[in-house]
Amino acid sequence: MDVIVKNASIIVTMDNKRRILKNFSIGIEESRIVEISENIPCEADFVIDAKGKLVIPGLINTHTHAAMTLFRGLADDMPLMKWLREEIWPTEAKLKASHVYAGTLLACMEMISGGITCFNDMYFYPEMVAKSIEETGIRGVISYAMFDFGRSEMAESIVKEGEHLIKEYGKSEGRVRVALAPHAPYTCSEELLKLAKETADKHGLILHIHVSETKEEVKDIKEKTGKTPVEYLDKIGFLDKNVIAAHMVWLTDRDLSIVKKRKVKVSHNPISNLKLASGIARVDDMVNKGIVVSLGTDGAASNNSLDMFETMKTCAILQKIHKNNPEALKAEKVLEMATINGAKALGLEKEIGSIEVGKRADIVIIDLKHPNLIPITNPISHLVYTAKACNVDTVIVDGKIIMENREFRTIDYDRVISFAMEQTIDLLSEAGKEDRLFMKSV
Ligand code: NI
Repeated sequence: MDVIVKNASIIVTMDNKRRILKNFSIGIEESRIVEISENIPCEADFVIDAKGKLVIPGLINTHTHAAMTLFRGLADDMPLMKWLREEIWPTEAKLKASHVYAGTLLACMEMISGGITCFNDMYFYPEMVAKSIEETGIRGVISYAMFDFGRSEMAESIVKEGEHLIKEYGKSEGRVRVALAPHAPYTCSEELLKLAKETADKHGLILHIHVSETKEEVKDIKEKTGKTPVEYLDKIGFLDKNVIAAHMVWLTDRDLSIVKKRKVKVSHNPISNLKLASGIARVDDMVNKGIVVSLGTDGAASNNSLDMFETMKTCAILQKIHKNNPEALKAEKVLEMATINGAKALGLEKEIGSIEVGKRADIVIIDLKHPNLIPITNPISHLVYTAKACNVDTVIVDGKIIMENREFRTIDYDRVISFAMEQTIDLLSEAGKEDRLFMKSV
């Protein structure tokens, strides 16, 4: 064996039977889990003692713009369209590859330290996102954010740009996967959406898009097409089982039926939706209807962190008040959203999302010896309502130990922090916003 996670006090497997194991060990060879049993002989290159620890599948963040860590705190307390038009888009117009590289490295470090082992990204310079994934050891789906703002004559060249990545990473079975990402129905022409769908189908890729995020978006699309964004996307043949739709806040009953029928996967981003006051998605209704709902953080400009523990708790408690019912969306459903449903949304359910023999070893180990985690009566509700990102102790991705006892093994911590600071200064100077920075070094 290459790695053994030995004598784990608790393993929450998230397998089909949702088994919770006590005092079991996990054997890993190369990138995969090869054994889960009570008696694994302790011969391995690395043995991790997991006594007093809670072991879970790596968390999957199904919607983010990782490099936007450089925009953290830049534009708070604003509504979405004002936030985009006045702050985000003008700053993004100054983006260079080095900014995306630095921001994504920083994001990967933040995500790994909080137990996220896979993320679904949509941004510019996706080859820099791929480079960050390769270097840090995390797993990720990269995509080029496509916009034409209605200028459909640009559609072909924009999709070509997205397609370019397929040549490099499309056939990869590794940690970097490719998706196509038309940004949203209000920023993409019908031609661009159709061409993206056609191209994704041709290459067997997923489509990553923002849909029905705000009331304003629904109103605008209705004025233009006479349909809700979901009805419109369905009418043009865009909706399918390979679509992962982020936000999906303002859905009608009819929209829900379309989503269910087309097997569209939803990425719910509760913190971003709350912070931008976009609204409260009908997650409990979607889950009860059998729609696959996963969880995302969205970018650090609208969150402002990339923390899936915070996201799980917010998701659960938000649905309870939304339905005025404490029994709405129970903890187990929320943990499913953050693990196995994330894998399903990315088409990777045979590879990740649970701790099972044959799957990739994407494993997170939580140290239970923290004041906020004592005592433990229900491991599932503990994960959703109590655990924090800082309780994560050790992270394994693709069979490699990425962080051990909160020490990074693949990342030069100080280098990433200073590189991110340096590149933020550069970006904000270009955008004429350098005076916003409170501190220029740490
Ligand atoms: Ni987003």
